[in-house]
Amino acid sequence: MGGRLYSGLLVGVMAAMAFAIAPLRAQTPDEKIQEKVQVCSGCHGEAGKPVDKTIPNIWGQQAGYLYIQLRDFKRGDRKSEIMQPIASAFEKDDMMAIAEYFSQKPWPDLGQPRAPKDVAQRARAADGSVGCTGCHLDHFQGDSTVPRLAGQSRDYLAKAMANFRSRARGNNPGMSDLMIATSTEDLAALAEYLAGL
Ligand code: HEC
Ligand code: HEC
Repeated sequence: MGGRLYSGLLVGVMAAMAFAIAPLRAQTPDEKIQEKVQVCSGCHGEAGKPVDKTIPNIWGQQAGYLYIQLRDFKRGDRKSEIMQPIASAFEKDDMMAIAEYFSQKPWPDLGQPRAPKDVAQRARAADGSVGCTGCHLDHFQGDSTVPRLAGQSRDYLAKAMANFRSRARGNNPGMSDLMIATSTEDLAALAEYLAGL
């Protein structure tokens, strides 16, 4: 009985020691990133599906684009009361590692319906005159600092384009000019079409 008590105590002491020692072990770069991205899933989703339709998907998004957004949130060039304090906690190296981390994840299927024929036609015509795919590339997959739009949340896309249009989102004046030159009916069709790709 005494032996069991002793071994039980020993296990307890060893567990306590392991606890005390654990923080002294240097974290691997991967563990550091895991710790930093934990907070993101509260809004951007555990499995890549954002918890709300107005929150963008960031899983599988282009790394260069993700980095620029974090940088711009921190600088305040892209205004967001939610994202600014979060991005402000990071240095450039963190942002690059976080961007890389999310870009490697699979793009989630948000289960949005394909746009009806007339809406798709209107969206393709707008693309034809503005040349969205000249920058956002074939099938709106994006590359580097140009974001993927295919399969992004419809409500978020509509909000993003409206914010560029009103210059509330001022971090890319070129995109604002293009959105101002496009009718709101065309933008609504584009949001529905892109979400369903
Ligand atoms: C409290 C909710 C919340 C948390 C937590 C959060 N985000 Fe966000 N995030 C948002 C919202 C809302 C937006 C859209 C802001 C806007 O449109 O102006 C956004 C936008 C972004 C964007 C821009 C995406 C795009 O397509 O332009 C990136 C990148 C991003 N978040 C990364 C992160 C990362 C990385 C973390 C964790 C370190 C994080 N977010 C944590 C709510 C959140
Ligand atoms: C000249 C190149 C160019 C053209 C043409 C262009 N875009 Fe963009 N677009 C960009 C770049 C670059 C960004 C990223 C801006 C930034 O860093 O915030 C962007 C961002 C966006 C975003 C924001 C995505 C997000 O996750 O927040 C949407 C939506 C968008 N573009 C839609 C369109 C549509 C629709 C068209 C055509 C009507 C179009 N763009 C034409 C270059 C272009």
